Amino acid sequence: LRKPIIAIDGPAGAGKSTVTRRVAKALNLTYLDTGAMYRGIAWLVLNSGISIEDESAIAELVSQADLEFIPSSDDQPPQVIINGENVTNAIRTPQITALVSPISAYAAVRQKLVNYQQKLGKLGGIVAEGRDIGTNVFPDAEVKIFLTASVQERARRRLLDFQDQGQDNLDLQQLEREIEQRDYQDSHRTLAPLRKASDAIELNTDDLTVEKVVNKIVHFCQINE
Ligand code: C5P
Repeated sequence: LRKPIIAIDGPAGAGKSTVTRRVAKALNLTYLDTGAMYRGIAWLVLNSGISIEDESAIAELVSQADLEFIPSSDDQPPQVIINGENVTNAIRTPQITALVSPISAYAAVRQKLVNYQQKLGKLGGIVAEGRDIGTNVFPDAEVKIFLTASVQERARRRLLDFQDQGQDNLDLQQLEREIEQRDYQDSHRTLAPLRKASDAIELNTDDLTVEKVVNKIVHFCQINE
């Protein structure tokens, strides 16, 4: 029996990571963080010295790259390993965050990662978060969720995350601008742009706690069984 696939898409900062991780845990399925893979490729490009405008050099670099995604176990986040190097922490810097949207728009990058994600999802049993999971990677997913929140709320959450990590030199308005810019880039690219699948359930999380959101999604999954 093939296990289900749950697709969770949405813009930056809507709470996808926390929610997806918890839904996976609640349903005893594997958590697939596709954003981490795009971040891994951005890290690779940044460290190669190749210009982010040089699409053909990036395509060549990516075609030769060895990418490994190891799902989370216990309290370990999923590990991203590129050409033998564990980049799990290195992909979370603001520099990578700024680079990842333009790099993830390239066809060679998307092709490689979508293939890899589809391979990982062959047997089902995953909860995947991203931008194009319900529309492109797993169009037949059993449950599709489109998670949103206002730009203001998303920036506020990002600020709290940074403060938790001991960084208190960030400006709320600057974060709002960065989020708006990434939303724009992700939803206006030609290939698999960020958008709600026609059969996805949209959940605005502005006034919902993480627990409420997780419970709602788990509930949708149980109805669907
Ligand atoms: O979710 P996260 O913020 O880690 O994603 C980083 C970036 O990776 C997104 O802004 C987007 O440009 C890209 N991405 C994508 N398709 C996905 C997941 C992420 O293009 N399925």
